[in-house]
Amino acid sequence: MQNFKVELDSDGILVCAFDTVGKTMNTFTKAALDDLMAIAERAKTDGAVKGVVITSAKSNGFCAGADLEEMLGGAWEAEGIDKSDPEAELKGAFAAAFEMNRVYRALETCGKPVAAAINGLALGGGTELVLACHYRVLSDGPKVQMGLPEVKIGLFPGGGGSQRLPRLIGAQAALIAMSEGKNFKPKEALAAGIVHEVVADDQVVEAAKAWIKTKGDPVALWDKKEFKIPGGGPYHPAGAQVFMMGNALLRKQSYGNYPAVINLMHAVYEGLQLPIDSALKVETRYFAKTLMTPQAKAMIRTLFFSMQAVGKGSGRPVGVPKTEFSQVAVLGAGMMGAGIAYVTAMSGIKVVLIDRDQAAADKGKSHCEDLLKKAVSRGKMTQDKAQGVLDLIAATPDYGLIKGSDLVVEAVFENTELKAGVTKLAEAELADTAVFGSNTSTIPISLLAKASVRPENYIGIHFFSPVDKMMLVEIIMGEKTSDATLAKAIDYVLKIKKTPIVVNDERFFFANRCFIPFTAEGLHMWAEGIAPAIIDNVGRATGMPRGPLEMMDDVALDLLVKITSETAKAEGANYIPIPGEAEVAKMVADGRLGRKNGKGFYDYPEAGGNKALWAGTKDMFPVTMSEADPAQAEELKKRLLYIQAVTAARCFEEGVITDPREADVGSILGWGFAPWSGGIISLIDSIGTATFVAELDRMTGLYGDRFAPPQLLRDMAAKGETFYGRFGKVDRKAA
Ligand code: NAI
Repeated sequence: MQNFKVELDSDGILVCAFDTVGKTMNTFTKAALDDLMAIAERAKTDGAVKGVVITSAKSNGFCAGADLEEMLGGAWEAEGIDKSDPEAELKGAFAAAFEMNRVYRALETCGKPVAAAINGLALGGGTELVLACHYRVLSDGPKVQMGLPEVKIGLFPGGGGSQRLPRLIGAQAALIAMSEGKNFKPKEALAAGIVHEVVADDQVVEAAKAWIKTKGDPVALWDKKEFKIPGGGPYHPAGAQVFMMGNALLRKQSYGNYPAVINLMHAVYEGLQLPIDSALKVETRYFAKTLMTPQAKAMIRTLFFSMQAVGKGSGRPVGVPKTEFSQVAVLGAGMMGAGIAYVTAMSGIKVVLIDRDQAAADKGKSHCEDLLKKAVSRGKMTQDKAQGVLDLIAATPDYGLIKGSDLVVEAVFENTELKAGVTKLAEAELADTAVFGSNTSTIPISLLAKASVRPENYIGIHFFSPVDKMMLVEIIMGEKTSDATLAKAIDYVLKIKKTPIVVNDERFFFANRCFIPFTAEGLHMWAEGIAPAIIDNVGRATGMPRGPLEMMDDVALDLLVKITSETAKAEGANYIPIPGEAEVAKMVADGRLGRKNGKGFYDYPEAGGNKALWAGTKDMFPVTMSEADPAQAEELKKRLLYIQAVTAARCFEEGVITDPREADVGSILGWGFAPWSGGIISLIDSIGTATFVAELDRMTGLYGDRFAPPQLLRDMAAKGETFYGRFGKVDRKAA
């Protein structure tokens, strides 16, 4: 037995400490499941075994669930699955889920009491394992959590979780937890009734043994004759109501975009009407059905695999030694600069935060202090740690203090001459090897690099607002930027625990370039006479976090007007005005700046509460469509999604972005692009390039050239290529 350290103690308790071979975290590989089956067999047949304790031998957690890499990587294909079958991978995953249920059930029915001593993080299949144990003791350690987060990658709990959790805590609580993918901290898990005891970390095994020795019931709750589902099952009037309301609510919240949530509902509803053994089969059937959906395939690829790869710096040139950062200088202590100083100090790096005068620099530092106070008051950080972070930040107007910095991040006003000036001041203090990164959102990096004496060390490091929350950072290559500089910039982004994507130097880079057309399409619709409520409703129904008009309010209308006028200036005679842009400019002139001053497309009550559409919108464009039938709504949704996707395709054609994984991850982390799709490029791949081109041609005819497919898409469609097929798995090599 290689994946569990097994020891029979003097009381006859078989203590099994999980330790997956070759993995940093415990996961259920095929071999680990075989070992767990052997434990269940031994417990059943060995008279010397009085009870079983399952715990973890790894210091970083209990179990992260099924081994997805192995599950989708073909390890299960051997089980009689034909490798040439295009669905082989997913069938392998099905086989894994089936086996997981069989093994967990064998443990649950081994005839001896089984207690889980959960001494760390238990997620997905890890939580499902302990649900199949008769007793659960959880550590109160600071990093300990439990939960079933499968929906976040387009799946639902397929290792018995969808059947055991509702039987344990009731259908309503379980459905909420599973459809949100909620994680429970120790106290929450105890309060919810998911575990029996919470004890100090070094006491979990003893507490589990104590239960076996004193009470030690070897029969699961749901295998007892007198068992009743808490809150009533689906056949019970109260239970039936939970399902009716739950179904309506889940469909409304997810707009039917997430088949996993709908299938979860079916599995729970049908499963609760059956004995547990049949219920587990129902679960496996719906689980397999879910796995076969394009949404699950795309979400697993992007939100699990690509997120990990990009999050580890897949765009980093290989062969450049890793950079450690002892000091970073941030120029400009405004909204962005202060946020950048905060996230940098949070990762233990000394920060010199520079502004025009001491008061402006101090203001930036006090913003960091506010963020730290909030973290302390929410129990996320100790006072000492917060003080330590704050002490790392030196606020000053003195450019001399830049000396010794490995990196400068510039975030002064968006002005080319001003940025050139501070570049010169900073470079006078910097070593030849130091990197200069600009956080500009609109000025070309190659243009800014002209002010630098070392343009090969000059790069774009583009954060998103608010910096402390947004995970994405775009790294922008200028014409002369070297690979060594790129590697250093990526090392910095990884150090501050953000996700870097590498983009080339075109107007608006990648994220804003794709996102702006979403808002512009909303303006087109408004000018066509479509009611704003319809525009924003269909916007949300696409899976975007907000509709285009509400999104414009959030970004700030004055900023959008500024961007539009600068785009017009830059494009000169080629600029095609967006219908509605003059009206938005008028709104700004009349003091409607968006959410930030409580007045935009919507009025935001000062006292809080729901926003209401500003009545003036209908004077600007009289409403001609105040209701949309399903076909019309579908077409509007298509417009909002496809205008972004066609822009992303153009970015590939122009080489603005080169790796589909970075485009997908960037779209979800950067502007909340519909997660169900697996990202902006996965959307095109799952529609199919040929179908997508045909649709774009049709839409170009109806709405204009902004939908016109680029030549790249036509070529791909003719050859039947996908983006992942054509551009997949690029590794950037150092020159
Ligand atoms: P801001 O106006 O809040 O801050 C700019 C700061 O630069 C001010 O504190 C100002 O006093 C300081 N400053 C001006 N001249 C200076 C000098 N010579 N030396 C040192 N500091 C000087 O602006 P914000 O929003 O923080 O933007 C900064 C940069 O970040 C701009 O380039 C902007 O385009 C970019 N950006 C902004 C985003 C946003 O959502 N606001 C998102 C991504 C990038």
